[in-house]
Amino acid sequence: MARHQPGLHIPYSYPEHLRSIVENYLAALDFAPIDLASATDAAGTEGLVEAMRYSLLAGGKRIRPVLALATCERLGRPAEGLLPTAAALELVHTYSLIHDDLPAMDDDDLRRGRSTCHVLYGDDTAILAGDALYAEAVRLVAEHQEGGAKVQVGILRELSRATGVGGMVGGQFLDLSDAGQRGAEALRRVHALKTGRLMACAVHCALVYAPPTQEVEAAYRAFARELGLLFQIVDDILDVAGTEDELGKAVGADERMGKVTYVSVYGLDRARELAAETRDRAQAHLAALPGRQGDLEALTDLVLARHS
Ligand code: IPE
Ligand code: IPE
Ligand code: MG
Ligand code: MG
Ligand code: MG
Repeated sequence: MARHQPGLHIPYSYPEHLRSIVENYLAALDFAPIDLASATDAAGTEGLVEAMRYSLLAGGKRIRPVLALATCERLGRPAEGLLPTAAALELVHTYSLIHDDLPAMDDDDLRRGRSTCHVLYGDDTAILAGDALYAEAVRLVAEHQEGGAKVQVGILRELSRATGVGGMVGGQFLDLSDAGQRGAEALRRVHALKTGRLMACAVHCALVYAPPTQEVEAAYRAFARELGLLFQIVDDILDVAGTEDELGKAVGADERMGKVTYVSVYGLDRARELAAETRDRAQAHLAALPGRQGDLEALTDLVLARHS
């Protein structure tokens, strides 16, 4: 995923074991469960499920689920216990990508190294595939997340807050409007909403599942906020400095769409400095946390150093 940048010391490696349990869990998901009520309800929906699986199983980096599981382990609990929620985060993220690529939004033809969902299945099915992925994410948490109703509702609350008007979808709306033009603070807010909130939600879900003390929770939340922002700053940089081969999506798309990004506002060099500063703040919050060091530190550095 990342070639290491010169000068950046990465003492830990990506938690591949977590990525592989996520991958296996996603591949085994059954969107049309055979039970008395739904066996007939789901009949004829194979084309929809095919479009959902096409985008979901196209080999994304799985950063959000891996972040949730790594946080869970850092909090002292086995990662497996949070797997349904981790998978739900990836379903929601995949839905956001399918809709983000639609002609009415960013109008992109390439995603995760393949044709985008709407190019292959049509705008109508792509819209529905996104809708269904969100609903199936909610179902995963409600039916399969362990910890009882309190944990399930707590996680669904985090998910809905992170993706609603004050989160991802609100951020996507601002991204398409001219709100990003209104200066640095507005740009930071658009990034925090459209990308940062769902990334941070991965950490928040683990906090609901395995709650630590208030003080520790505050440090996790501060870390999550910085990591979410870092992720989108680097996404903006890669749109200019990355390659289509490595990214699996088009480069130069932001300029083509006239998007306000960290690169358009600050220039490439300053955007890189801001990314490095954001990474440092994220790492400083991590340094204050108890538990086994390693995976979260590695994820943070790889988010900065990534080329894909
Ligand atoms: C891309 O997300 C879209 C943003 C929110 C910036 P990722 O870079 O995590 O995409 P995948 O999941 O690896 O394809
Ligand atoms: C996408 O931001 C954010 C969401 C999908 C919510 P971008 O539009 O920058 O993502 P890419 O560059 O297309 O992956
Ligand atoms: Mg977009
Ligand atoms: Mg886009
Ligand atoms: Mg982008």
